[in-house]
Amino acid sequence: MVPSRSKRPSILLLIASIIVIALSDVVNSAKILCLFPTGSKSHVLGPQTLLKHLASRGHEVTMVSAFPLSKPVKNYRDVYVPIQSGFDTMMSKFMQGGSRNMFRMMPVVAKISMDYNNDTLNSPQFQQLVREERFDLAILGYFMNGFIVGVGSLLKCPVVMYISAGFNQVVNFVGNPQEIASVPHLFLGNKNPMTFMDLVKNTLLSVFEAGFITYIESVTKSYYYYNFPTEKGFPTYEEAKLNISLMLCNAYFTQTVPRPMLPNVIEVGGLQIKSKPDPLPQDIQAWLDGADEHGVIFLSFGSNLKSSSLREDKFEAIIGSLGKLKQRVIWKWDTDQMPRKPANVLIGKWLPQDDILAHRNLKLFITHGGLGSITESMYHGVPIVGIPMFGDQDHNVAQVVEEGWGESVSFDNLTESALTGAIERVLGSERYTQKIQNMATLYKDRPQSALDLATFWVEYVVRHKGARHLHYQGADLNRWQRSLLDVLVFLVAVPFVVFKILGVLLRKLKKQKQKAADANRVSKLKKKY
Ligand SMILES: *[C@@H]1O[C@H](CO)[C@@H](O)[C@H](O)[C@H]1NC(C)=O
Ligand SMILES: *[C@@H]1O[C@H](CO)[C@@H](O)[C@H](O)[C@H]1NC(C)=O
Repeated sequence: MVPSRSKRPSILLLIASIIVIALSDVVNSAKILCLFPTGSKSHVLGPQTLLKHLASRGHEVTMVSAFPLSKPVKNYRDVYVPIQSGFDTMMSKFMQGGSRNMFRMMPVVAKISMDYNNDTLNSPQFQQLVREERFDLAILGYFMNGFIVGVGSLLKCPVVMYISAGFNQVVNFVGNPQEIASVPHLFLGNKNPMTFMDLVKNTLLSVFEAGFITYIESVTKSYYYYNFPTEKGFPTYEEAKLNISLMLCNAYFTQTVPRPMLPNVIEVGGLQIKSKPDPLPQDIQAWLDGADEHGVIFLSFGSNLKSSSLREDKFEAIIGSLGKLKQRVIWKWDTDQMPRKPANVLIGKWLPQDDILAHRNLKLFITHGGLGSITESMYHGVPIVGIPMFGDQDHNVAQVVEEGWGESVSFDNLTESALTGAIERVLGSERYTQKIQNMATLYKDRPQSALDLATFWVEYVVRHKGARHLHYQGADLNRWQRSLLDVLVFLVAVPFVVFKILGVLLRKLKKQKQKAADANRVSKLKKKY
């Protein structure tokens, strides 16, 4: 029969191509380990998104962290290692209005983070992985824990570093040019161009930072050599750092400033943001859908700060202000009940922030100003009122105010009238929303999504077994070599030595000539008499 004859080859072709695809999947599938011992859930959102995507492409991924996925995903295995929540007391002190001086806080934060990491490396769960399994790649989450680079030689596989923030000197393990004259430090804000006084500040900041890095690295080394002793054949800390294949940074230049980047430093800002939001929990969906023309305000202090530990007067100020608004409010609240909760406020412990910000009725985000929150808000075109609390949040919020898509209320000035004033200013004018929508457009206009870009480079490193050819030779140079001081010395020294030798020779020649002339004269005189 004619029809079946023409069908059979196409079915065979289909089966053959399925087999080929299945086989090629097996061939290309890699075993990837991600290690991110952190107490901040917001820091693991990016890697989780990336790993889920890698899993969907057939790779076998393992995530070692304190934050397992809530729903299991095929090819994705969580190795849960709980960590002492050393940050909690610090966070509740912030919420009580305690000192937020980051310069004093930094060494404490660094120590806590290194202890988390040390505990995880020494946990039975991680040790078992090391003993029993082989991996093709390790993705290591960075937060003041540089010593975990040793995991590369422990597992004998290439290393990709993931940074939850923008690229900076503290994580510059690959020799990226620093350019103090043209790249403003985070603490200076994203100034482009910088004035002369900015340059002076930038220079001083870089000197201060170099001191901080020296300190951090010295602490890090003691953790490194405890876990990866050279006597047991591990490379030195410096060698291990130079062996990093790739750095993924959760930042993007339209949000900061343009800067030189090596081919192995990849900006994947917005990695955690879904281009299509997931369905919301029913109560949240109904609350958002059912809002009138005034819309909904979302309030969250992020994943570390607990709203329930807010100082009493600050809490009163916030509910006083929110309770009088025409808008509905969603507040990320960490206990089951909120005292004196206004009727227009809905509370929830686990809120999908990215999906809520994506809702068309969402008008304003009241946020502590963490980088992830600021980025998601910008991406979805939602203006903000920032209440910065610690770390980079002051700078993030100041930047938003400068860019014109939000207002700031400092914790010290947080009163009912100050908060209401800021909310009314932002909601009362179109200019905030217009500004943010322009920025969102620029942020999204890329040749490929952050997720696809990160995926490409991770697979690239696997394909090329560490992609050693990406290594920048500048990474191997010290400060003097990088500024060519050794060559300058050489260039000055060579002519100097040559001239010196020539001078000596000339003088010798002159002397000989003189001698010869003298001898000549003497013999002439002798002949005369
Ligand atoms: C450097 O990384 C490669 C894999 O990319 C690994 O085989 C090698 O052992 C590492 N060397 C050192 C000194 O860590
Ligand atoms: C790392 O953890 C181990 C085991 O828990 C501990 O003995 C060691 O002192 C820690 N290292 C440092 C540098 O604190």
